[in-house]
Amino acid sequence: MKMWSGRFEAPVEESFDRWQRSFPYDRRLLPYEIAASKAHAEALLEAGVLTEKELAAILGALGRLLSEGVPKDDDASIEDVHHFVEQRVAEQVADAGLKLHTGRSRNELIATDLRLYVRDSIDHAQARLSDLVDAMVVQAEKAGTAAIPAYTHMQRAEPVLLAHWFLAYAEMFMRDIDRLQSCRERLNFCPLGSGAVAGAIVPVNRETIAHKLGFDGPTANSMDATSDRDFAVEFVQHAVLVANHISRLAEDLILLSTTEYGFAHLPDCYCTGSSAMPQKKNPDALELLRAHAGRMLGNSVTLATTVKALPLAYNKDLQETQTPLFDTVGRTLAALDIAAGCVRGLEFDIPRMRIAAARGGMNALAAAAFLARRGTPFRKAHESVGRAVQLSLSKKCELEELSTEDLRRCDIEVPLDSFRAALALDSVLALHDVEGGTAPARVAAAIRNVRERLDSLQEPPSERS
Ligand code: ARG
Repeated sequence: MKMWSGRFEAPVEESFDRWQRSFPYDRRLLPYEIAASKAHAEALLEAGVLTEKELAAILGALGRLLSEGVPKDDDASIEDVHHFVEQRVAEQVADAGLKLHTGRSRNELIATDLRLYVRDSIDHAQARLSDLVDAMVVQAEKAGTAAIPAYTHMQRAEPVLLAHWFLAYAEMFMRDIDRLQSCRERLNFCPLGSGAVAGAIVPVNRETIAHKLGFDGPTANSMDATSDRDFAVEFVQHAVLVANHISRLAEDLILLSTTEYGFAHLPDCYCTGSSAMPQKKNPDALELLRAHAGRMLGNSVTLATTVKALPLAYNKDLQETQTPLFDTVGRTLAALDIAAGCVRGLEFDIPRMRIAAARGGMNALAAAAFLARRGTPFRKAHESVGRAVQLSLSKKCELEELSTEDLRRCDIEVPLDSFRAALALDSVLALHDVEGGTAPARVAAAIRNVRERLDSLQEPPSERS
């Protein structure tokens, strides 16, 4: 039976009923609905609506429902997860069950369930992001002083440590963890007690309810609490950034593992073969991770446009925020797992990378820096080294292979030995000796720093540095 049939003469049209029911997807919220119902029932005792005996019977029924778990199948007679819980409790606890809904509304329940769901999803996403960062740090530690070309405009730019490359991604995912944390802090207030729109009609203790459910306190305004989904919009928008970072990583790894680069070997278990070309090893996991960003952006646009221009307070439109949210949560957690697995299984052709990092004029900036240190204004040094690059290209040699005579033609008067020493790969790497730079000692410190920040995430928020 519907929860609201009293007022109606005719039953609801079947096709519309199928269209409006949310039980097929909101039943996953059952554990939150049960937790919220327990807290509400306990508040009803304090408010004098339920007796001790009635409360015990209701709590018993809710406990049994929780242990049965989320129903696997849909049930067409059930409208939504709120209806499901109310009906099952009423079935088990004759009259008292029918009192459970006293002073509450589905509008506050769904707002509460979704906040609890997003809060748990944030915790899971943060744990997986931490695991992905850990995979980056482990690779960075393993990489030691291995070098790789860094690219700007997808052109070889300067050599960097492979560890530095990994830490670049570690920083992105650390920021994602942080963003989710601030979203978590903002959402952690409890709508229960807001009623349908104007506030509960029985004197429930909202502070107690909120704290029982792990919230920092009750929400401040019943109309806002029952009708805004900004926490869900915020979460899916953060998930877009997570996905964007994953897609950058995926694209980089796809490139680095091509025969043309030949730097990285992807783990077999995240690749597939071709039904036609026996030699193929395709980076399907990474390609799907790259595409994942598109769907995340789609979900975020769907959600933001669904809630746009909704008048106060609850409107059924809000039900449509659920499926994009659920899709985002499920796919984000899976994508993070797969990304971490891919990273952990990566192997590198370090000699080939070292050759690539040492050749092709990527020490030109270091050459200009060498001249500048000896007193040549940088702009002039840049110009002279540019000419030297041109000459080395025409002679098909490296900058450090030019003779004193060649260099002189470019206005470069230097002791050849120290010039060449300054252009050696290790000198070029060591030159970038600033915080955040790729000099090996700086990278070693950066690895320690990320590791410390990662470890501090395991501590309770109040003790975090
Ligand atoms: N399934 C509904 C939703 O997700 C629950 C709230 C229904 N409230 C109502 N007044 N019809 O929004």
